Amino acid sequence: LNIPDLIRKKRDGETHTRAELEQLVLGYTRGEVPDYQMSAWLMAVYLRGMQEQETADLTMVMAQSGDLMDLGTLERTVDKHSTGGVGDKTSLILTPMLAALGLTVAKMSGRGLAHTGGTIDKLESVPGWSPELGEEAFLRQARQTGLALVGQSKDLAPADGKLYALRDVTATVDCLPLIASSIMSKKLASGAQTVVLDVKVGAGAFMRTLEDGRGLARAMVDIGTRAGRQVRAVLTDMDTPLGFMAGNSLEVLEALDTLRGEGPHDLTELCVALAVEALAAHGEDETQAEARARQTLRDGSALAKFRAFVAAQGGDATYVDDPKKFDVAPGRAQVLAQTAGFVQKVDALSVGRAVLALGGGRERKGEAIDHGVGVELLKKPGEAVAAGEAVLRIYHRDGRGLDTAQRLLEGGLAVSETAPAAEPLILDRVN
Ligand code: URA
Repeated sequence: LNIPDLIRKKRDGETHTRAELEQLVLGYTRGEVPDYQMSAWLMAVYLRGMQEQETADLTMVMAQSGDLMDLGTLERTVDKHSTGGVGDKTSLILTPMLAALGLTVAKMSGRGLAHTGGTIDKLESVPGWSPELGEEAFLRQARQTGLALVGQSKDLAPADGKLYALRDVTATVDCLPLIASSIMSKKLASGAQTVVLDVKVGAGAFMRTLEDGRGLARAMVDIGTRAGRQVRAVLTDMDTPLGFMAGNSLEVLEALDTLRGEGPHDLTELCVALAVEALAAHGEDETQAEARARQTLRDGSALAKFRAFVAAQGGDATYVDDPKKFDVAPGRAQVLAQTAGFVQKVDALSVGRAVLALGGGRERKGEAIDHGVGVELLKKPGEAVAAGEAVLRIYHRDGRGLDTAQRLLEGGLAVSETAPAAEPLILDRVN
């Protein structure tokens, strides 16, 4: 079939074969299919959707468009992915927990874009730490330490990089089979046997409703299963930032507290829940898995893994034991409650945008960021406040972006007379 025939097929709601998807997607990746034809096809997918097997085929074709990491020499491999949130430092805590639990994490992570942060940016708050490791060193470190983390290679699922850029300018980003295949193509190409997905739902997330989140989680688990991997998903609330801190150094500091067993309740519980899913995917009993996961935060074994991991990738490991060394921006400002009552809402998206305005995030790929700025929640939703009491603390550098941050945070804060109903952090599980 020629390309217009393939576009026509999808326009009329028909189902592609794997060979047809290869023709389209690999042709596009090689530069043989032009943007205008691929744009028409993406819009047809957006309007007509895709069948489950068809979505899995698309994902496999995208995964095979570039290098496939071979983790075959490593034991009990696990990967973790979050669909993106504000204050989401989970990977910093969960990955050393998993290593301490005897699993192997050989993971590619991203940098932050717009209001969501990235694990690589956070780790770069530790001087010397580098996400650049050759393949051999990456595998060796994963084998020795149980944890190695590198930046995403441009040869990993290159079809996704090209398609995502096109989706971004053709109003076809928010399309379930395209999101699911985009995320899972990178996970399949990264090579882990098991994958734990944290699908965020709420104001600060891609998926605004639980129903949409469930649909995405089911689609990703289905793709993984069809590709012979063990995939489990947890749906979690992202109306409010996770933990108390948002901003790179501040989040690493909070992650270190959590690794010492002194972290915020919500963050600790999410890390334990994700660790249980990872162990369950490797066939362990869930009750035992939970006890083992909690133990790694009590006995210092997860912290020891984090220290070894930081040192192995060139980081100054003394920062792990001396948090005062981190560069935290010296400027302080506060956002106050206008009336007495209960914190109803601290909007995650507003906090993410405030961190961006302060210089802690980037609008475009490649921009430098200030690791030391950020926002601290002094109160979480449900807590009582007096009129004039501080709810948020801003860490700024010489006032940069302060007015904008203050305005965003004031707009995202709601105080009510009655306490809001307590919302669970973990909304559902899919496996
Ligand atoms: N994250 C991805 O990697 N791809 C999408 O399409 C959406 C979120």
